This record gives sequence, C-alpha cells and structure tokens, in this order.
Amino acid sequence: MLLLAAAFLVAFVLLLYMVSPLISPKPLALPGAHVVVTGGSSGIGKCIAIECYKQGAFITLVARNEDKLLQAKKEIEKHSINDKQVVLCISVDVSQDYSQVENVIKQAQEKLGPVDMLVNCAGMSLAGKFEDLEVSTFERLMSVNYLGSVYPSRAVITTMKERRVGRIVFVSSQAGQLGLFGFTAYSSSKFAIRGLAEALQMEVKPYNVYVTVAYPPDTDTPGFAEENKTKPLETRLISETTSVCKPEQVAKQIVKDAIQGNFNSSIGSDGYMLSSLTCGMAPVTSITEGLQQVVTMGLFRTIALFYLGSFDSIVRRCMMQRAKPEMADKTA
Ligand SMILES: NC(=O)c1ccc[n+]([C@@H]2O[C@H](COP(=O)([O-])OP(=O)(O)OC[C@H]3O[C@@H](n4cnc5c(N)ncnc54)[C@H](OP(=O)(O)O)[C@@H]3O)[C@@H](O)[C@H]2O)c1
Ligand SMILES: *[C@@H]1O[C@H](CO)[C@@H](O)[C@H](O)[C@H]1NC(C)=O
Ligand SMILES: *[C@@H]1O[C@H](CO)[C@@H](O)[C@H](O)[C@H]1NC(C)=O
Repeated sequence: MLLLAAAFLVAFVLLLYMVSPLISPKPLALPGAHVVVTGGSSGIGKCIAIECYKQGAFITLVARNEDKLLQAKKEIEKHSINDKQVVLCISVDVSQDYSQVENVIKQAQEKLGPVDMLVNCAGMSLAGKFEDLEVSTFERLMSVNYLGSVYPSRAVITTMKERRVGRIVFVSSQAGQLGLFGFTAYSSSKFAIRGLAEALQMEVKPYNVYVTVAYPPDTDTPGFAEENKTKPLETRLISETTSVCKPEQVAKQIVKDAIQGNFNSSIGSDGYMLSSLTCGMAPVTSITEGLQQVVTMGLFRTIALFYLGSFDSIVRRCMMQRAKPEMADKTA
C-alpha cells in the first residue's frame, strides 16, 4: 500500500517535471510597461498602481470620480523612479456601457502604448441578509464586480494576443472562495470572476498572456469602511475571526504574482489554506504549487470543518441573542 502510494507520488512528480517547461511563464518586465488599473484611485487599486510605478511602469488610472483620480495621481507621482514616467487618469464607469470602456482603453493606448498589464480592481461590496438586500443590489454588484471586469478585459485582449504579451489581473476576494453569511450578493459576483478567469486563461495561454485571480482578505481601505456599515452582526463576528490586512501588503503580493504569471494570488495563512482548498481544476503555474495542493488538501479540509463549525455557532448565538437577549448573555 505504502509502496503504491510512493510510486504514485514519484510518477506524479515526473509528470509535472515533463510538463513544467510548458507551464512556467517568462516574468513580465515592468520598467516601461503600460499598466492600466481600474479602481486605481483608492484602496488596493491605488496601492497596486504605486507598486507598479515604483518598478518603472507607466500607469493609467480608471475610476469615476475625477477629484479622487487627481488626488491619487499626485500621490503616485511621488514614487517616480525616472522623469519619463506618466500617470494618466481617465474617468469612466466600467460597469455601464462597453463601447465607453473600449473608447477609454483606446485613448490610453494612444497616449501610453499598448496595455501590458490590466488590473481589474474596480469593485464594491454591500452586505445584508438575503431577504434584506434589494434585488437591485444583486444587479449592481454583478454589473460592477463581474461585468466591470469583463469589459476592460475584452477591450485589451485582442492586442495582447496579437503582441503575444500580457497580464490580466482579476480581483476577487476570500468571499469569492467561500460563501459567508451576509454575502449572498457579493460572494456570487466574486465567484463569477473565477469562472471567467479559468476559461480565459485556457484560451490565451498559447499567446503568452497570463491571468491572475487575487483573493484579498479583509483589507483596510475606504471601500472596507463603507462595507462595514452594512454588515449584519453575524457577518461582523465572522470577519473578526481573522485580522485586517494593509492594502500595501496585498498590492505587493498581487503585483508579484501578476509579474510571474501565477494564476492564484493570496495572502496570509488563511489565504494559503483557502487557495489550496479551492484550487479545483484551476491552472497550475509551478511544480511546487501543484505538489503543495496535493499534499495539503486533506489536512486543510479537516481544519475547514472546524472553521465551519465555529461559523455555525456564531450564527446560532446571534439568533438566540435576538430572541432572548438576557439568556444569551448568560450562556455566552
Ligand atoms: N477591502 C477589502 O477588504 C477587500 C477584500 C477583498 C476584495 N476586495 C476587492 O478589492 C477591490 C478594491 O477594493 P477596495 O477596498 O480597495 O475598494 P475602494 O477603496 O472602495 O476603491 C474602489 C475603487 O474602484 C472604483 N470604482 C468603483 N466602482 C466603479 C465603477 N463602477 N467604475 C469605475 N470605477 C469604479 C472607485 O472609484 P470611484 O468610486 O471614483 O469610481 C475606487 O477607485 C474591489 O473589487 C473589492 O471587492 C476588497
Ligand atoms: C465596523 O463598524 C462597527 C460598528 O458598526 C465598529 O464598531 C467597528 O469598529 C467598525 N470596524 C471597522 C474596521 O471600521
Ligand atoms: C496562492 O498564491 C500564494 C501567493 O500569492 C502562494 O503562496 C500560495 O502557495 C498559492 N496557493 C496555491 C494553492 O496555489
């Protein structure tokens, strides 16, 4: 039995070695590259823009509010490493009209050349129990988080394939790896991104275009503060079982993974566990990554069962507390 398992492991490693030249992309050179960041005027997107600028890239920021865009541009320009670098700002809603988004990308390409890397970071979150969320919230989150990632990607993909150069980054969420209380609208919009990314990666890999999906944990941004206002008690208590990350740290990891062409980008030990647990049929970009996934699956599923149990008990406790506040206080 043990021998058989060992033989399988050896065969697996050999197989991975055989295909490895096909799956290790050449890193993208950021100096002089044109990076478009949607949602680049705030939070994680702004930090991604700064990180790329620090490495010599030319940046196009895309978001709606012009004042916030100009503010972010000033902040990013402080980090220049040469006097040729440019930060271009374009105001558009990425979720409304495809032809508008296409025009904006055309404008950016005319000024700063073809897009080498697109980071789809525009997004928003609203929490609430399923029956308390307006139906329009489901439509809004799907159009901003999902269609707002489809449109810019669709506008850059042809040129990327022609040039045989490109990176497309999608910013999902840990809530795009598991569904949590209060996130019926948000989680589904972030799960949708994963399906898009997997299918797209299979199409564009022969053209040397690589797709990255990032799954940030709770991150200290203006968007997070906004979302916090709408969270039910259950959602807040579940969130509080993990710590809040700094956007700079999240941005650094995303840029690193995008340069390397890694399909998955995650942060911290929870992030590592969630990515391993949910790797499914996602593309693999290195031998170590594939081996880690195979080896850790059983252990992580076991740990996940404990997490799920504790989430269930949080939800039950909140329900009791609402029914009989005095009694729940005593049992808590
Ligand atoms: N912060 C977290 O805890 C966390 C965790 C996991 C995933 N994420 C994801 O990470 C991404 C960034 O989050 P964040 O917290 O950094 O958000 P944020 O601080 O609220 O920034 C959002 C950015 O997106 C832009 N934006 C929003 N809707 C847009 C639209 N329809 N068209 C164009 N631009 C739009 C905003 O600018 P305008 O409003 O001016 O358009 C802003 O630049 C989101 O996709 C979010 O879901 C965040
Ligand atoms: C979230 O909101 C609650 C009150 O609604 C507050 O106590 C908490 O400090 C807020 N957390 C963050 C990170 O803003
Ligand atoms: C996901 O990406 C992170 C880095 O962003 C890496 O440390 C981790 O091993 C990856 N996990 C899987 C399952 O590929």
